[in-house]
Amino acid sequence: MTPRELPVAGARNLFGGALAFKRDQLGFLAENIRRHGDLFRFSPLGVPMVLANHPDHIQHILVDGEERYDKDATIFKVVRPVLRNGLISIADKEQWSRQRRMMAPHFTPRTVAGFAENMTSETVHMLERWERRPRSAGDVLDVTDEIGQLALRIVNRSLFSADVSRAAQAFERAFAAANNVLGSFFRFPFPPLSWPTARRRRLRSAIDDMDHFVSGVIRERLSGEGAGQTDPQRPDLLTLLLHSVDDDGTAMDLEQLHHEVLNLCIGAFETTTNTLSWAFYLLARHPQAEQRLHAEVDQVLAGRVPRFEDLPQLTYTRRVIDETLRIYSPAYQTMRHAREEDVIAGYRIPSGSNVLLNSYLLHRHPEFWPDPDRFDPENFAPERVAARPKHAYIPFGSGRRVCIGKHFALTELTLALATVARGHRLLLPDGAPVVEPEPLITLHPRGGVHLRLVRR
Ligand code: HEM
Repeated sequence: MTPRELPVAGARNLFGGALAFKRDQLGFLAENIRRHGDLFRFSPLGVPMVLANHPDHIQHILVDGEERYDKDATIFKVVRPVLRNGLISIADKEQWSRQRRMMAPHFTPRTVAGFAENMTSETVHMLERWERRPRSAGDVLDVTDEIGQLALRIVNRSLFSADVSRAAQAFERAFAAANNVLGSFFRFPFPPLSWPTARRRRLRSAIDDMDHFVSGVIRERLSGEGAGQTDPQRPDLLTLLLHSVDDDGTAMDLEQLHHEVLNLCIGAFETTTNTLSWAFYLLARHPQAEQRLHAEVDQVLAGRVPRFEDLPQLTYTRRVIDETLRIYSPAYQTMRHAREEDVIAGYRIPSGSNVLLNSYLLHRHPEFWPDPDRFDPENFAPERVAARPKHAYIPFGSGRRVCIGKHFALTELTLALATVARGHRLLLPDGAPVVEPEPLITLHPRGGVHLRLVRR
């Protein structure tokens, strides 16, 4: 049967829907899903895009169609000035596969178990710092900023044996600036970033700051200073990358090493930060869920710091994390480039299309999530998970390019949440505004999450 042509969204809007997409990216897509269904195309400023919003499409593109789709897509071109040739954005399949093979052993559940102690001890230190804060600073914490520093400390200590305490905030600020510039450029790619504008200067300076941070981590190791010591029996990822050789016997050059360290810091930092910030925010707004969390943590831990072995018992804690990742999926959009013409659900996907997958919208698909905007950790009770198609929920992507840090992140998030919930609550300050998600390159809580710390 001849495939049908895709419905076109925004055809009557100026610039192919570009202005509507720029004004309200999520609203534009949601409105067109209502109008056209789960598959449609649009061309903001002439860029050919297709939105695919059904679990079967996700399976088709990310899992079954890996040969037909690659990462040579617009969104990765937008973020390439920051991520360059690191694992997240790399499009060349052979190079990707070499790099991924080299790093994968550091991300297995078994290896991650060895990082659990870093994760909880850094969280305990953060709580101690919170407790020591002068009262004059008020009880309200900038939770997103605090968790951002925590996430950076954990990933750098675990993978690179580096102590980045002093530099973490500068990295956070630089990343936020780049996320803003590139997020708005993705929504409306004009003027080009090569033009000498204030936006370009902001981006350049943010990239320089992130590069400075990464160079510091690598320099510390190369000079054998500070925390950069590692156990020769258990070399960390940085040591492995430094000594890695390709099949043809060449070592990874320092530039590539720099890109990989940067990609891991970026991949690990903003995503886990936003998830934990949103989790505390959602718990503050849903006291019944918070009570269930406390009951579980009290029963399993009886006040002690959690260990990796406790994870199978911390089922409700994990459901809170899973549900947070559904509602505010931090890596909420990805894209694939169609290398050739394809057919999905009877529709023709033109060669060269940029296929946009948006987990913020997919995770609210009414066919799979009955009350999609309600925070309900029971969505992740085993019987409900079993009743849904696997690809109705993709916070970590899927297929061969699934997030390498998935186990790392889930372990960190569950342990950190349980560690805080043992003895503390984070409450909404009086008159606190509703925090809205801000769709940049990642989904960020607009203005950050600010909560009041109290002891339980
Ligand atoms: C809640 C936390 C996290 C979320 C939601 C998340 C989400 C994702 C998603 C959706 C992808 C796939 C993107 C695509 O298909 O285009 C991805 C890839 C990636 N993530 Fe994560 N991530 C998280 C944590 C981490 C951590 C902790 C690390 C490292 C320690 C990490 C490193 C990476 C890397 C390097 C890739 C590229 C993998 C590849 O293409 O081979 N992420 N992540």
